[in-house]
Amino acid sequence: MPQISEKIHELTVGQLSARSGAAVSALHFYESKGLISSRRTSGNQRRYSRDTLRRVAFIRAAQRVGIPLATIREALAELPEERTPTREDWARLSEAWRSELDERIKQLNRLRDHLTDCIGCGCLSLDTCVLSNPGDVFGERRAGSRLMVDKGRTSA
Ligand code: FES
Repeated sequence: MPQISEKIHELTVGQLSARSGAAVSALHFYESKGLISSRRTSGNQRRYSRDTLRRVAFIRAAQRVGIPLATIREALAELPEERTPTREDWARLSEAWRSELDERIKQLNRLRDHLTDCIGCGCLSLDTCVLSNPGDVFGERRAGSRLMVDKGRTSA
């Protein structure tokens, strides 16, 4: 990834993309979700402050370990005056996300263990296949597994 001179305080979306490794479309998506922000030039082009690089690195690191964007946004919003996450912020937040990751790993291990029952089967039965209907959530709520529309509201 190309270095960007310390003298440059604002980056174009192309520079931010090249330096962070995130696709331009991903940066636009992050911005549309309120994870990063830019100002517009008189020619209506986006300019990002240099510390957006660190914000994007934070977002991508969190995404790599499976943290949903909504959770990342909440974490960034908790930082005072929406400042860029520091090393301490990342350490604190990644520690808090560890239990979430542990739970996800347990769920994936359970799914992997059940996968052997499904290999070569293909039934996707709502009654017996734990992959097509893990925990039979719909079945626990109502007799039979189905999606229903009640009084104009969709429910499971
Ligand atoms: S596909 Fe038949 S048990 Fe999962």
